[in-house]
Amino acid sequence: MPLSIPSLSARKQQKQPIVALTAWEYAIAQIIDRAGVDVILVGDSLGMVALGYRNTLPVTLEEIIHHAKAVGRGVEQALLVVDLPFMSYQVSPQQALRSAGRILKETPAQGVKLEGGSPAMVATVAKLVQAGIPVMGHVGLTPQSVYLMGYRQQGKAPEMAEKIYQEALALAAAGVFALILEHIPSDLAQKITERVTVPTIGIGAGPYCDGQILVTHDLLGLSETQPPFAPKYIDLRQLITTAVTQFSQDVKTHKFPGMPQS
Ligand code: KIV
Repeated sequence: MPLSIPSLSARKQQKQPIVALTAWEYAIAQIIDRAGVDVILVGDSLGMVALGYRNTLPVTLEEIIHHAKAVGRGVEQALLVVDLPFMSYQVSPQQALRSAGRILKETPAQGVKLEGGSPAMVATVAKLVQAGIPVMGHVGLTPQSVYLMGYRQQGKAPEMAEKIYQEALALAAAGVFALILEHIPSDLAQKITERVTVPTIGIGAGPYCDGQILVTHDLLGLSETQPPFAPKYIDLRQLITTAVTQFSQDVKTHKFPGMPQS
């Protein structure tokens, strides 16, 4: 049985850190699921890591559903959450309901994630939750707003920190089941984590969150460029290059596949 949303919420009271990673396809999803990850997010970062887009903006609802189906086939234990892509929910609460409804109907996801904490977004979250759709919030650096904010840390200036804090509180009051805090100062993440009753999951937000999430491409060293806060636990780019170079050399020198045994 996959981890349920109530069990995820209980982790905060139990002070058990939440481990979350992104996934974009079946094999990786299966590996990280069996390795004990609690939450698997089909993030719209798949636009960059799997589809070669310049940022997350071009990702469509069709694409994320296609990848979420593949990921879903590999997941048995983790709670699966799927990102609502740019412009699949910002137009109106009705559009958000239709898009989130499609994700929950067509994939095994238990919840959706959306970015931002403006009053309009908080109203949208409330509508989704009233319709029985679990929502994960996301504040701080919100990559779908890259043209407005870049990829810089958010919430350094006191008034920006206060804005993010208020957004987090408003999203929690609207019923999100968890909150992603991305690239904000750790004291701000701590203040939010201490105040809200839902789990916070940080990425570049310091050690005081209830859990941590990374983009799996970054963790595995598959990304071309790495955000400053994302550690590389293994250099798969290098390992793959070594393996492919060796294979290529073996073919060219007739070492592979070797002569048939007679
Ligand atoms: O799309 C994504 O991978 C995300 C994580 C960075 C949280 O939203």
